[in-house]
Amino acid sequence: SLYQEAYRDQYHYSAQQNWLNDPNGLIKYNGVYHMFYQHNPSGNEWGNMSWGHATSTDLIHWKEQEVAIPQSDDNAWVDFWMKTKDDAKPVHYIGRPTTNWDAGNPNGKRHIFSGSVILDKDNVAGFGKNTLIAYYTSTYQVAVRDDDYSKDSWGNYLGIREVQEQNMAYSTDGGKTFTKYNHQNPVIPATQVPTADAANFRDPKVVYDSENKQWVMPLVSGQEVDLFTSTNLKDWTYQSAIKREHDVGNGVWECPELIPMKVKGSNRTKWVLSLSVQLGAPAGGSGMQYFVGNFNGKKFIPETSETMKNPQWLDFGEDFYAGIIFGETPGRTIMLGWMSNWSYVGEQNTSPWHGEMTLPRELTLERSGNGYTINQSPVREVKRLGQSTERLGDRIITADAKKDTILPIRDFSGKQYRVSADFSWKEKQTPNRFGFRVRASEDGSKYIEVGYHPRSRTVYLDRTKDGEAITRQNTKVILDGRPNKIKLTVYVDSSSIEAFVNDGEKTLTQVVYPNPDHPSDTNKLSFFVNNGKVAVSKAVGSHLE
Ligand code: FRU
Repeated sequence: SLYQEAYRDQYHYSAQQNWLNDPNGLIKYNGVYHMFYQHNPSGNEWGNMSWGHATSTDLIHWKEQEVAIPQSDDNAWVDFWMKTKDDAKPVHYIGRPTTNWDAGNPNGKRHIFSGSVILDKDNVAGFGKNTLIAYYTSTYQVAVRDDDYSKDSWGNYLGIREVQEQNMAYSTDGGKTFTKYNHQNPVIPATQVPTADAANFRDPKVVYDSENKQWVMPLVSGQEVDLFTSTNLKDWTYQSAIKREHDVGNGVWECPELIPMKVKGSNRTKWVLSLSVQLGAPAGGSGMQYFVGNFNGKKFIPETSETMKNPQWLDFGEDFYAGIIFGETPGRTIMLGWMSNWSYVGEQNTSPWHGEMTLPRELTLERSGNGYTINQSPVREVKRLGQSTERLGDRIITADAKKDTILPIRDFSGKQYRVSADFSWKEKQTPNRFGFRVRASEDGSKYIEVGYHPRSRTVYLDRTKDGEAITRQNTKVILDGRPNKIKLTVYVDSSSIEAFVNDGEKTLTQVVYPNPDHPSDTNKLSFFVNNGKVAVSKAVGSHLE
């Protein structure tokens, strides 16, 4: 029945039907949280990109709404000249927009790609007080020629190219529907791309810069972030570029964001630049990185000359991507991401839906060594899911050389829960590995391990014994310190795991599809230790329903 299919996450958002990717336009408005997202309203694969919409009063229970911005059927003839980075001279873009690489299609369309929503409290843009304004990328393909069309109606046909431009739309009914503003003249046309990479110019995320009383819009352009500013929300001026200084392969950059954050325990504000890279993340494929610095109204200034060379990663699992933060939640930085990875997204065989969001996480910026790091924990509203918290019992577990000791927790089982415990050990008895086995089968032969390997300081998620048909790489993160205790908190849902190390110092987010033959036979939870001795304390489990 509805939302009860095998693998359907119960407390992570997915669309009732069909494809979903990036969160878009996250904002709190009139006491309601709005989540828009990349959505195919008529298929379970990527396509027909539109903005889906869901609302919540507590960030946890979401109600799907009608599609807010459907794919545009505006196919009016376009006609302009443009020189991209691959052209020696300007090329003529002429014809009807299409999303199917079929030049001249009279039923052409434009995709509504990722973007953001802001609240225009003071009617700066002139659509009325408290209007929600969306910025998104309009993506379409169009025929191109290398000479004037009228000269030679057959010759010099170069084919079809992709165009990405920034558009604006506004809503006066609280985000239900949006009216496109000045559609034929995008607020930032492709001809204005600083890098001339018009096919990879996208994902506007508008933020208010209170110090300079202006709006700032970071955009990706190939492998660089371009900053535009505006004081009237309609005219945007190019200010500066943040260039690539580190190698993460040839994948494009996506979904950039500039986040003003108070440093924990101080009154100082830093600006965090976050972005999603399609390739080169620690777990392989797509992932999110961030850089800390300052913003002077025109330029992002990295903290040190080394900052841009050393990206910090937000998450070390395979599935935390395209995350952005909510607008209009003063004092709180709340991010959620798409739980997937472009490098294997097609292997997720769920139906009739595809894709889900992470839990919303509260981000804090903390001093660490000479720099700053982001700490993440699920928003406190997650408590609304927990029916009761059960003590799982303090204990000391000993394992002989080369042998695992498994301690099944008999009276706690299920597929939707949080489990957490402190583990500590004495230097001389340092265990080889220890942690939780979640989603274990009755007979204990199938399971997913979330554990710690003290000698290499590695927290890992091992899926090689989960019975899944496709075995992917295990994911891991190396801790900065060499502790003799560690806290592991694991959120388990039907097809995902979010693990938080030491209250959010590091995180691992991972979709999982355990034991496809017996999806209901993966309810067991146990502690395990290998070769050594570990003390387990403050062990608690909460069913999340
Ligand atoms: C990121 C992304 C964005 C783009 C959108 C298209 O996952 O590729 O760059 O706007 O998805 O659906």
